[in-house]
Amino acid sequence: MGTGFPRRWRLAGLALLGLVLAGCATGRLDATKPVGKNAQEIDGLMRLSGWMAIGVGILVAAAVATIILKFRAKPTDDPDDLPPQIHGNRKAELTWTIIPTILLIFLTVYTLPTVFALASEGDGMTIKVEGQQWWWQFSYDIDEDGQYDIVTANDLVIPTGEEVNLELHSNDVIHSFWIPRLNGKKDAVPGRVHDWRISSDVPGIFYGECVEFCGLSHANMQMRTIALDPDDFDRWVRQQYDGQTQAADVASAEGTPEQAAGATLFETHCISCHVVDGAYESAAGGNANLLSGLAPNLTNLMSRTAFAGALYETYLLGPDGEYLRGPDGELRLNIAELREWVRNAPNMKPARADNQQGMLDFSEVLTDQDLDNLLEFLKTLGSPPVLPQ
Ligand code: CUA
Repeated sequence: MGTGFPRRWRLAGLALLGLVLAGCATGRLDATKPVGKNAQEIDGLMRLSGWMAIGVGILVAAAVATIILKFRAKPTDDPDDLPPQIHGNRKAELTWTIIPTILLIFLTVYTLPTVFALASEGDGMTIKVEGQQWWWQFSYDIDEDGQYDIVTANDLVIPTGEEVNLELHSNDVIHSFWIPRLNGKKDAVPGRVHDWRISSDVPGIFYGECVEFCGLSHANMQMRTIALDPDDFDRWVRQQYDGQTQAADVASAEGTPEQAAGATLFETHCISCHVVDGAYESAAGGNANLLSGLAPNLTNLMSRTAFAGALYETYLLGPDGEYLRGPDGELRLNIAELREWVRNAPNMKPARADNQQGMLDFSEVLTDQDLDNLLEFLKTLGSPPVLPQ
């Protein structure tokens, strides 16, 4: 074989390369660029303790280097002549006990106010967050009457400049909610409600991941926060309400023949799991055929930037992550992946449909014509997303 390098060197090189590349893969999950108050407080602590650790590291490394160089055996030394043998050194021991103690006390005093501040309630709206295998649902009680008015998935839409309160639930196993640029991590635990907050000072799309191992598609359980100016947020709320009436129109066969055929297929194959507000509410409250009891509410499917646990983009992106647009400036639907998702979901995101976890494989059930019609119907569910300006 002979590259000239011993095998273990090559393995070490590969491991190092792997580590370096792993650092590149998390560009969208960068906790060092906070945009919300909570994330900024955490970032401040991280920087403070980071710089302190770097300072201590440099001092220790310098001390070690000095001792190695200064006290090493010299060629002129007699190998039988031992230096003075001592037991203990009070001065040295006190120094390396007292200095770290002072540093730790300082860090504790500095950290505690942030811990309490992060645990307090925000001044903004409250959104219910439900984790399940392997996607997130978000429910809004806009008029605060105790009923959820808007139920959506994958995209957590929030207004900027507001401390948004999250009530974290889990419908099956332990998940963990993390949008690094908006706050730290918080577990979603079955049978418990955990309060959490997020906020953003600027409009934008901020990406997140489930960060508690939760089964086969844990790594594919993503989500994103779409932070909108308050005016745009109001526009989004109205759009979500409009979507509820639009869906009812198409379901009552006011669409094209393809849409009507799609609606019929949807009734046959989809509504035992998926709810469409105003049209197909028979599955309201959930689906008995899934462990988690819920499949995504599809009322405003087209208004979401992502589908399948935010693993796929609903609209096509260019090489720099910008939205591609058609001749009239409209967003271009990612029709190929959406179609494949409907045809054979487990092929695009590992799931255990046989174990009531995830969407079924319909590749043996739906013909090409069926898929086309179904897609025509899905396209009627809501309007394109309100994007951050
Ligand atoms: Cu949900 Cu990991």
